[in-house]
Amino acid sequence: MIDLERIRADTPGVAHVAHLNNAGAALPPRQVLDAVVDHLRREAEIGGYEAARERSARWEHTYDALARLLNAHRDEIAVIENATRAWDMAFYAFRLSPSDRVLTGRAEYASNWIALKQVADRTGARIDVVPDDEHGQIDVAALERMLDADVRLVSLVHVPTQSGLVNPAAEVGRVTRAAGVPLLLDACQSAGQLPLDVEELGCDILSGTGRKFLRGPRGTGFLWVRGSLIEELEPPLLDMHAAEWLPDGRYRIRDDARRFENWETYYAGKIGLGVAVDYALEVGVDAIWERIRELAGRLRAALAELDGVTLLDRGEVLGATVVFDVAGVDPVTVRNRLAERAVNVSVMEAGSAQLDFGARGIASAVRSSVHYYNDDRDLERLVDGVTELAR
Ligand SMILES: Cc1ncc(COP(=O)(O)O)c(C=O)c1O
Repeated sequence: MIDLERIRADTPGVAHVAHLNNAGAALPPRQVLDAVVDHLRREAEIGGYEAARERSARWEHTYDALARLLNAHRDEIAVIENATRAWDMAFYAFRLSPSDRVLTGRAEYASNWIALKQVADRTGARIDVVPDDEHGQIDVAALERMLDADVRLVSLVHVPTQSGLVNPAAEVGRVTRAAGVPLLLDACQSAGQLPLDVEELGCDILSGTGRKFLRGPRGTGFLWVRGSLIEELEPPLLDMHAAEWLPDGRYRIRDDARRFENWETYYAGKIGLGVAVDYALEVGVDAIWERIRELAGRLRAALAELDGVTLLDRGEVLGATVVFDVAGVDPVTVRNRLAERAVNVSVMEAGSAQLDFGARGIASAVRSSVHYYNDDRDLERLVDGVTELAR
C-alpha cells in the first residue's frame, strides 16, 4: 500500500502543480533534491575532486541501488548522462556488416531510430521493423519468424514515449534468447514505473534515465549490460576512465560496464540518482505499478466520457501515459491552456514516433502521464480543464 500522505509531503512540487508530465520528467522527492544540493554545496566548500573523494561511498552506492532495481550485478552497471547516450554506447559497439539485420518495433524512439539509420546507411546493414499485433503491441510471433541467422540485434522500446503501451518485453526476451540474438531494451519510460528484472525480461542490454519515473535528477541515466557480453562490446568512445593508457602506448579497456562511462561526471546527479532509486525501492515498485495503473485507468475512463476527446493509446497492457486529442483544439493550445490552470501535460509530435504516430497519420497529440504521487484532485483538475476546452 502506498502512503500517499507521506509521499506527497515528501514532494514539494505537488503544492504548486498538478504534475501529469511524468513521462517527461517527474517531480523529485525532497530526499533527491537535498542529496543533489548537499553535494553541490560540498563541492563549493571543499572542491569538486575532494568532495567526490570524501563522498565516494554515496556515489558508489548508486551502482548497488541500480543493481537491486534491475536484479543485476553492480559491475554490469554504467551511470551515463542520459538514456540516449547509454543506449548509443551499447548500440554503436556492435560492428555491423552489410549482411547484418537489426530488428526493431513500431514503438521505436526517435533518437534510437536515427542511430540505427545512421549505422545502416554507413555499413549497409538492414533495419527491419517488426509489425504490431492486433492490440498494437509488438507481434512476438512475427518477430520469431523474422529472427534468422542474419539478425545481429533486436531493439525494443519497453514503454514508448508517445503512448501508454507496455510492450511484452519478457515474451520478446524469451524469443531472442532462444535464437541467441542480443536484445537491447530501452527501459527509459518503464524504469521506476513497473518492476524490471533483467533475468525475467531476458534482455542483454537495458538503458534508462533518471528524471522520468525514477524521479531522479535531470542529466542522469544508466546502462546495464549482461556480464557475459561486456567484454565483447568495445565502446565507440574511450577515455582514460574507460581504458588505461599503458607505458608502451597501448591501452587496456576496463572489464566492467564502466567502460561505457566517461571520466568527467555529474557526481551530485549520480548521488541523487541513487537516492531516487532507493526511494522507489522503499515505496515498492510493485505498489507503484499497481497505483499507476489504477490512476491511469481512471483518467482514461474519465477522458473517454468527454465529447470531442479521442484516446489514442493502443496495447494490451497500458501504463501511466494517456495520450489524447481534443477535436478542433491543437495540442499546443491544450497544453498551454492547462498550464494556465497549473496542470502540466506535454505535446507529442509525429517526429518523436514516426513508426507509430507517423504511420497512423497522427501529427501530434496531448500526452498526460500519471505517477503514484498524483491524487484524485490532480486528475480532476486535468479532466476539468479538458472538459472546458472540449466544449
Ligand atoms: C522511450 C524513450 N527512450 C529514450 C528516451 C531518451 O531519454 P533521454 O532523454 O534520457 O536520453 C526517451 C525520452 O523521452 C524515451 O521516452
